[in-house]
Amino acid sequence: MMDSYERVHEYLSRLGMSTMESIIDSYLETSHDRPVMDILDHLLSEELKHKLSRKTENMLNWSGFPFRKTVDDFDFSFQPSIDRSVIDDLMTLRYIHNTENVVFLGPPGVGKTHLSIALGMRAIMSDIPVYYTSAMKLVQTLKRDYDLKRLEYRIKTYSRFRLMIVDEIGYLPLTREESNLFFQFVSSRYEKRSTIYTSNKSFSEWGEILGDAVMASAVLDRILHHCTVINIKGESYRLKDRKKNSLPTMRKE
Ligand SMILES: Nc1ncnc2c1ncn2[C@@H]1O[C@H](COP(=O)(O)OP(=O)(O)OP(=O)(O)O)[C@@H](O)[C@H]1O
Ligand SMILES: [Mg+2]
Repeated sequence: MMDSYERVHEYLSRLGMSTMESIIDSYLETSHDRPVMDILDHLLSEELKHKLSRKTENMLNWSGFPFRKTVDDFDFSFQPSIDRSVIDDLMTLRYIHNTENVVFLGPPGVGKTHLSIALGMRAIMSDIPVYYTSAMKLVQTLKRDYDLKRLEYRIKTYSRFRLMIVDEIGYLPLTREESNLFFQFVSSRYEKRSTIYTSNKSFSEWGEILGDAVMASAVLDRILHHCTVINIKGESYRLKDRKKNSLPTMRKE
């Protein structure tokens, strides 16, 4: 026959409460004169804390982020064209609750991916599933799934993510078929799920990217209907140190 000590350990193990199981003995040894409710309060809160941090870590691993950076890592003084209050408002995650989009536009190295990931990490901290992909990888995946007759399944899978980040639209032009698939993706999320898009091209150039002005206006219409657009105008952060360390320019004779 098991005694109560063994039974409690057995229950905790079968309930998957591994943190509480590992700390209960030592904690009870040091706190026998404390009220039972206080003891339970401490043990259960430790269990929950570890469960949440494990879940967050899993969500971060599944998100596909190419790196992990937060808004605190972002030097706003280097990029004065960004209105900090707009980013702070996005950090409240209201746009996700309202199924709105965000678009970051700007030249290379100005922080489009950094800020997208920072917003993605903020969402994950609030238990919102996020998935990051480059635009190229997205259309390649959609095309493969279309060929395998499982496009609908793929789009349904993406809809599980309340926030998706589609990075680097416009680095490579899309074929007609790819544009069509991209349109279907945008349509599937319209007013249902939030998406952050980034691009180094202005909206007027999206016709060239998508190979068709009509397609571009249908895509932009849906993306921009409920959307915060952040147009970053500034220098590349990547070149910041290179500039600082570069040799003085040669004087012309
Ligand atoms: N203002 C900033 N403060 C701190 N780090 C920054 C800032 N802007 C950019 N960075 C860093 O510089 C690098 C380039 O930024 P990022 O990848 O976000 O650029 P991008 O706008 O996405 O460029 P690309 O169009 O080439 O993809 C990253 O390591 C990012 O963390
Ligand atoms: Mg980028």
